[in-house]
Amino acid sequence: MAARIFQSNHPLILHKLTILRDVQTNPKKFREVVREISILLAYEATSDLGLAEFEVTTPLATAQGYTLTEKIGLVPVLRAGLGMVEGIWEMMPTAEVWHIGLYRDERTLKPVEYYNKLPINPTVQVCLVLDPMLATGGSAVATVSLLKKWGAQRIKFVGIIAAPEGIKRLSEAHPDVDIHVGVIDDHLTPDPKGPGDPPAGYIVPGLGDAGDRQFGTA
Ligand code: PRP
Ligand code: URA
Repeated sequence: MAARIFQSNHPLILHKLTILRDVQTNPKKFREVVREISILLAYEATSDLGLAEFEVTTPLATAQGYTLTEKIGLVPVLRAGLGMVEGIWEMMPTAEVWHIGLYRDERTLKPVEYYNKLPINPTVQVCLVLDPMLATGGSAVATVSLLKKWGAQRIKFVGIIAAPEGIKRLSEAHPDVDIHVGVIDDHLTPDPKGPGDPPAGYIVPGLGDAGDRQFGTA
């Protein structure tokens, strides 16, 4: 099985992504736009959710009605994934939210887990992993592995910007996970050669550090 990769290319997403990329965009605006893009991405990522049919009574007649059959889990990867939750949650208020705390070790770029409150048994049928950045893919692979160990059956990754390296790593490690991203960028920054160079493992052109830009930290 090969992973299905969805790059949005939707005009609204491309327009809003430009605001996120802009170094002049302040944290308040950045958070607003992360929220808006996340709703649009989740709309695309949930187009195959299961439905049950039932008859609904309107003031005039009866009509074919539909209800979602699968319980959804929103899984934001802390910190940067937090900004993706609220907007999506408003669209699907019965979803459960399960936080996973991971940070990337600056030197090794390997994910380090620091928070996980998943219950022993899975409580949802579809998990949407929310993380704006898919860079080396280490954090996404670790999150999906955790969810699978938990017993999650259908997992989708929803991100704003991906690097080709992250797409490759996630799709090879978890080919059953659909990957929905706003855009796939060019490459990752290499190891710095001098003091003025950016740190390794950042998406180029990207938007910088998604956590710092949302929370105003440097
Ligand atoms: C960022 C981002 C991802 C990770 C992506 O988080 O939100 O979780 O990096 O990189 P990867 O694909 O190479 O693993 P970061 O570790 O900076 O933590 P933060 O969100 O708490 O700032
Ligand atoms: N994490 C970020 O926030 N930005 C990147 O470009 C890579 C990882």
